[in-house]
Amino acid sequence: MATTTESWGSRVGLILAMAGNAVGLGNFLRFPVQAVQNGGGAFIIPYLICFLLMGIPLLFIEWSSGRYGGKFGNHSTPYILDSMVKGRLLKYIGVFGIFTNLAIVAYYAYIESWTISYVYHSLMGTFQGMSQGEVAGFFNSYVDLSHTTTGIPYEAVIFYVLCLAFNTFILSKGLKGVEKVAKIGMPLLILFGVLLAIKGYTLGTSGASELFPDANAVDGLNFLWTPQFSSLADPKVWLAAAGQIFFTLSVGMGTIHCYAAYVKPKDDIALNAVSAGFMNGFVEVVLGSAIVIPIAAGYLGLDWVINNAGFGMAFQTMPYLFEQWGPALAMVAGVMWFGLLFFAGITSSLAMGTPWMGFMRDEFGWNRTKGAWSFGGLALLLGLPTVFFYNQGVFDDYDFWAGTVSLVTFAFFEVILFAWIFGMDKGWKEINHGSDIRIPMGYRFIIKYITPLLLGWVFFSSIPNIVDRVLHKDTFNNKSFATEYYAENFDTSGAAVGKVVESDRHSVKFSFQN
Ligand code: PHE
Ligand code: NA
Repeated sequence: MATTTESWGSRVGLILAMAGNAVGLGNFLRFPVQAVQNGGGAFIIPYLICFLLMGIPLLFIEWSSGRYGGKFGNHSTPYILDSMVKGRLLKYIGVFGIFTNLAIVAYYAYIESWTISYVYHSLMGTFQGMSQGEVAGFFNSYVDLSHTTTGIPYEAVIFYVLCLAFNTFILSKGLKGVEKVAKIGMPLLILFGVLLAIKGYTLGTSGASELFPDANAVDGLNFLWTPQFSSLADPKVWLAAAGQIFFTLSVGMGTIHCYAAYVKPKDDIALNAVSAGFMNGFVEVVLGSAIVIPIAAGYLGLDWVINNAGFGMAFQTMPYLFEQWGPALAMVAGVMWFGLLFFAGITSSLAMGTPWMGFMRDEFGWNRTKGAWSFGGLALLLGLPTVFFYNQGVFDDYDFWAGTVSLVTFAFFEVILFAWIFGMDKGWKEINHGSDIRIPMGYRFIIKYITPLLLGWVFFSSIPNIVDRVLHKDTFNNKSFATEYYAENFDTSGAAVGKVVESDRHSVKFSFQN
């Protein structure tokens, strides 16, 4: 057990760090894609229900478990769970809360490193005058390490290593470093997000695009925001919604426990948890849905968006769309967009570093320098395969196993443990202790019965998916974070330069001609 007692510098710092933990690439890259792939307005209702019935309860559980464990000088899920209920087995369930982070950070920091590179290239004007095909080709050759188009050999590797080194450096400064990055990054992120979203909302219904005269941004917004109640009967949509709620709130990972372990025993957690959760929701639902989708729909049409929705839209399309605003605005928009993604990314990847550091401290008494550098080294080791074998689907495997299966598994055990083994009497007391708000009593019932049942359902109904995946069938439901993008439109050599050959809104195809 460690002797020094670190804690958060201020309440604002804590909330921003927790919000920074939650607000991440998931809000801007994963959410819009999940929403589009699951029918737009059909996705929103299950999403909101999952937020209220699983997201908020899990936030309460994780914040209070973390603060509880912290009282005993514990900072990582194996020790925190151990302080709640004695028993060896439980300690091992807590191990999920460390390794999930390592596996997620490996690919997450890779995407984060792209954002740094794209800020650089936006500033350099690299995308100026490029066609849509060329911008997509730029990305393809960026991740294909066998050759270079940007003039920097192994650029992707260099930025990745830089990105991890930067994370490691900040982590080695401890909570103060994390808090500082959140205090700078979060306000900037919101500012950039609001400005880009205003642009998204005001693109209007016509005149945006020469290529696609019918394209309009409002189509995109309507598609996302017209509720479709029929979706309530589709289990696939529910699973996707639940998966997004876990990922976006960072629950089921151990990062919230770890941050909360540094909250002082008498301080509020209920209001803090709700504030951070709602801030994440605002950034996701209001800002995250107002940038990529309407802007892409405004220039390329809604059908294009539906057919091509994928994680790469942000990197393969946005720089091209920004160019439509003229070189100066394009540079500003590029820096804002990729800068925003960078802040979103780094405040989350730092969070993923802390459970490992906390564990090494609990178990071996390692100081934060040792903790941080061992974390950086491990992340690099795990991450290099995703960098070198990006095109072979390693990335998707990481996202599936760590970013989906492992979260749900851990969340399922943890809710049972909290509500039924630790017990709801003690649990409810912990949640309300020092609270600055009155939590509706209904939540006691929800946490005890509804959340475990829903989670159990999500957990067990994903088993066929998992089995499918293991048997290498390509029919799994949850299209992952890194869904291969433009697969049909561009070959992987990166040399392909697509050209729009059919430009009516209903069937947009790119050709491979150079
Ligand atoms: N919640 C983050 C996002 O939306 C992702 C994350 C995963 C953060 C794991 C911390 C731990 O991008
Ligand atoms: Na998020």
